[in-house]
Amino acid sequence: MPAILLAVALLFQETPPAAPPHAMPGEEAVEPYAVRPGNLGARAFEGDAMAQAFHGQDGIHRIVDGFVRRNFADPVTGPVFANHDQVRLKRTIFEQFCAILNAGCSYSGRDMKAAHKDLGIQQADMNRLVENLQAAMADEGVSFSAQNRFLSKLAPMRGQVVER
Ligand code: HEM
Repeated sequence: MPAILLAVALLFQETPPAAPPHAMPGEEAVEPYAVRPGNLGARAFEGDAMAQAFHGQDGIHRIVDGFVRRNFADPVTGPVFANHDQVRLKRTIFEQFCAILNAGCSYSGRDMKAAHKDLGIQQADMNRLVENLQAAMADEGVSFSAQNRFLSKLAPMRGQVVER
């Protein structure tokens, strides 16, 4: 086969999905793992002030662990989260928060509409989830002004998450 044809054939070849960048052992596979900036759901902050306010990736890990643990244990949000992959959630929510806070990560999860499709999420679930996030951020000692700046990035995603 001439080289040019070979190059074109290779270009259009089906490529297997790349391994997720930070997949955790025991995580269920959800395809695709491609990093698409549009999936993040918000524009990232500029500069490093917000990353510092959240105590860098270590602080964001602690916040996400507390946030996810609370959401699973909570009587309002718990039934929505039950039977979902907590290992993957901790990874993808960490990636999303870290990317929005401009703390040096890429988000490899689904867009917010696809991730929450058919979950039957109501406004009361959303309110409680925000309270659980506030509690996790307060545990980490994040200032109220930084908490509110971050929450204002998440608020516009409501329309993709809550079913009316
Ligand atoms: C702005 C608010 C929210 C944000 C930023 C958010 C973020 C995320 C992210 C990043 C994922 C992972 C997507 C992936 O792994 O591909 C996810 C999945 C999920 N979220 Fe949310 N979420 C929000 C609101 C909610 C609410 C209010 C609930 C219910 C109380 C909820 C329940 C879930 C569940 C159950 C999953 C797992 C879906 C699955 O396993 O297929 N989320 N969310």
